[in-house]
Amino acid sequence: MSAAEYTGLSSNDTKFGDTVYLLRLTNQLRLLYTYIRDVNTSNKNFIFYNNRLIRLLIEETLNLLPLKSQQIITPLNELYQGFEPLVKNTNIVGVSIIRAGESMEFEMRNVLPDCKIGKILIQRNEETFQPQLFYSKFPEYNEQDYIFLLDPMLATGGSVLMAIDCLIKNGYKEDKIIFVNIISCPEGIEIVKAKHPSLKIVTGMIDECLNEKKYIVPGLGDFGDRYFT
Ligand code: URA
Repeated sequence: MSAAEYTGLSSNDTKFGDTVYLLRLTNQLRLLYTYIRDVNTSNKNFIFYNNRLIRLLIEETLNLLPLKSQQIITPLNELYQGFEPLVKNTNIVGVSIIRAGESMEFEMRNVLPDCKIGKILIQRNEETFQPQLFYSKFPEYNEQDYIFLLDPMLATGGSVLMAIDCLIKNGYKEDKIIFVNIISCPEGIEIVKAKHPSLKIVTGMIDECLNEKKYIVPGLGDFGDRYFT
């Protein structure tokens, strides 16, 4: 299949195992991905449609957290067997990989106003081409915490692997880290899964491959440039 024919995988097609969660390919998702990929989409619309997608991704990620049952009473004085979260919102930590990942903080805070936010800055060394850690700041570690690691594009996986190492050095457990991204590719998923088999990945779409410049194909170009400039 050529990049021109690419319309996305549906969740049943993913062959990456049970730690990789793909948004259900609905008609709205088809539209949103068309808008964000289109080179003619304005910056304003790029932000608008990505924010809608990010919201869906955060909601989907929340589905991975456990619930316990709770009985409530409806206005009709009827008993209803409902649920309550086992994880407090204050134990959900969004960690964004600067700069593109910061785009995902806004919807994270909209959905979870009491969540905490951490940041990590990793840049590629222009001589060695290796990712380099420049800065990290996380909330005080609590063993109940779940991390939503935020970066919209999973390409080579270099930055995210360094971010995961940094989180683990700060006490966070691999099986409580969920990497949330808008577009991923097989190369990136394979490398993250191989090093961190119990870490979960929530992705909106799995694209075809990386090109020689390490951009995702068909992709959407440089996410940070389109969202922030
Ligand atoms: N980062 C981007 O912004 N786009 C890609 O295609 C890959 C990494």
